[in-house]
Amino acid sequence: MANLATITLAAGKGTRMKSSLPKVLHQVAGNSMVQHVVDTASRLEPLHNLVIVGYKAEQVKAETGGEIQFVKQEQQLGTGHAVMQAKDDLADFAGVVLVLYGDTPLLTSETLQQLIKKHKTEEAAATILTTKVDDPTGYGRIIRDQSDYVTKIVEEKDATVEEAKINEINTGICCFESELLWDALAKLDTDNAQGEYYLTDVPEILVAQGYSVGALSISDTQQTIGVNTRKHLAEAEQILRQRICNYHLENGVTIIDPANTYIGDEVKIGQDSIIYPFAFLEGKTEVGSEVVIGPQTRINDSIIGNQVEINSSTIIGSQVGDRSKVGPYAYLRPGTKLASEVKVGDFVEVKKSEIAKGTKVPHLSYIGDALIGQNTNIGAGTITANYDGQQKYRTVIGDDVFIGSDSTLVAPLRIGDRAITGAGPVVTKDVEADDLVLGVPAEPKE
Ligand code: UD1
Ligand code: CA
Repeated sequence: MANLATITLAAGKGTRMKSSLPKVLHQVAGNSMVQHVVDTASRLEPLHNLVIVGYKAEQVKAETGGEIQFVKQEQQLGTGHAVMQAKDDLADFAGVVLVLYGDTPLLTSETLQQLIKKHKTEEAAATILTTKVDDPTGYGRIIRDQSDYVTKIVEEKDATVEEAKINEINTGICCFESELLWDALAKLDTDNAQGEYYLTDVPEILVAQGYSVGALSISDTQQTIGVNTRKHLAEAEQILRQRICNYHLENGVTIIDPANTYIGDEVKIGQDSIIYPFAFLEGKTEVGSEVVIGPQTRINDSIIGNQVEINSSTIIGSQVGDRSKVGPYAYLRPGTKLASEVKVGDFVEVKKSEIAKGTKVPHLSYIGDALIGQNTNIGAGTITANYDGQQKYRTVIGDDVFIGSDSTLVAPLRIGDRAITGAGPVVTKDVEADDLVLGVPAEPKE
């Protein structure tokens, strides 16, 4: 939208969170609240996507990504004051300014689109997103006249007993005609219970000047939750998780117990995959079709192929090829690439290693900095000794190799195709293709 600028307010400390982390950096479904809001704003393709930062500004900037521009609010003198900080950056801009609060992570871009559409159709000076809630505690109340026109917003701390009973609340999301906004902001004062410049005083100022202020009241009260406390944060988490699970359920994924399944909002899952309880799918994870993700599995930033079976395992920054089996109790660490039909079984840790098609590492092994060929079998208890206390070294194992149980492979090491190691050897020298090496047999005690 060419004539749109968005401003996300994220300068506050968030005192009620009782945290050293700025409120807007607290996470919901694996992303910070402000990131959710900024991403939602980006979907509208605004000409300017501004974020007002203040408290721990450098940290908020460092941890928030996207095509956005940060503006500093040196002192947090209120939401109206925060919006004022964007005036210079938007000096050449004329159009609709949409203000968003960095603590409303559940908002959708569809709702924002409806708000802007209503604002334009009604040619209002400002249009407020409102909703009716059972318990309006903490929110600004929407005051309407007898003809149902919005006349002002009253903050809870400034509300009369009668006003406090109103259950239509200000979600904080509001769009304004830019010029009228800057004029009205200049008229704000701090003559209120909190001694702040309230953005919420702008509607009253506009109405007093004869302009009309509209409202879009939405029935989905969950979308507009403003997170002020850890309790709100937990509520928001639950709602967003449920929303994400519903999306995957609609797309043909079986989630056995959505209440106990944790899927991040960037995760992709193919059709006919089945997710068991207590799975955590996080980051930029992609899961193929017909995959079974067993209970107690954590997958972070990983690519999982089709028809893979994963059970009670942790997979981070890795790739797992089609029809491979992982777990139970396997740990794939960053840089691991399993080709198709690989088996990494129980109590196996694999780090920064590539394992080719059909190879099995079934039990109790550590594979680090290794390259393993096709159809090789790595016996139980095999260890790649990749670290001498100072440096890491590579182990390269060929195709159709048979590594005996409890082999210690001291890197750097190469083992050729079809080679065999006996049970329990400490292999310190390269093994040629087709060779057999045996080690350290136990002798009867004299
Ligand atoms: C605000 C609204 C209230 C509304 C509610 C919706 C005002 C005065 N009140 O109250 O009507 O019902 O949100 O959730 O606007 N911020 C800054 N700079 C500041 C102050 C705040 O950037 O100087 C940011 C905060 O980081 C936060 C957002 O603005 O992301 C809202 O501030 P907050 O203190 O949470 O406002 P509420 O009291 O919830
Ligand atoms: Ca708030």
